[in-house]
Amino acid sequence: MPQLIAGNWKMHKLRAEAIALARDLRAGAGAGANLLVCPPFTALAAVADILAGSRIAVGGQDCHPATQGAHTGDISAPMLRDAGASHVILGHSERRQNHGETSEFVREKVVAAIAAGLTPIVCVGETADQRQGGAETETVGWQLSGSLPEGFAGIVAYEPVWAIGSGKTPTEDEVAAMHGFIRAELARQFGDAGRAVPILYGGSVKPANAKALLGLPEIGGALIGGASLIAADFLAIAGAALGG
Ligand code: 13P
Repeated sequence: MPQLIAGNWKMHKLRAEAIALARDLRAGAGAGANLLVCPPFTALAAVADILAGSRIAVGGQDCHPATQGAHTGDISAPMLRDAGASHVILGHSERRQNHGETSEFVREKVVAAIAAGLTPIVCVGETADQRQGGAETETVGWQLSGSLPEGFAGIVAYEPVWAIGSGKTPTEDEVAAMHGFIRAELARQFGDAGRAVPILYGGSVKPANAKALLGLPEIGGALIGGASLIAADFLAIAGAALGG
């Protein structure tokens, strides 16, 4: 399977900026990796219109477990579908930290996303303190067993919290070890289906380190923040991915 190069635009880009970036990506995307961009909600439909019929899929950055209701400020999975999304990022560390999302709550969102026909990208990863304390695999193991529902068929992203936006990345050995651990956990939880789940790496992926990171074992692609905001950088990372 080709690797997936996914851009998480986070809380960046006004609509005109998002449209311009989507146009540049559409014009520059070559064959090879699968591509996905996750704009902010306000730009999602406009970006989906620009990218319709292209090689680049569109995703949301979060959704609520309910399909509709009295949930001020939230967005449902069917609304994301309606706006043109095929994927949704769930359980990102910025939501776990800034919005107090527990793994149990993330699991409810994953169920809702799958029910709406979206592919969930479920994020897991340890803090600096947890790694310093030697608790990184235990942390990620709990997040996986808590966040993934029975019969999970989606994508997992390993994003060490301390590597996000910091310019720091784990060593290649550390990434390979964690991805191997996640693969074993997925196989233990879900059997053969767990062996097919792509595992993305995220956290300070840049054009300069993309080839090395994407070449490691059990890497299904990358989830990119800062470098996904610049078309040339995102396309350079895509160019370093394995086309399958
Ligand atoms: P950076 O690539 O900016 O470190 O962000 C990673 C991330 O959080 C993607 O979801």
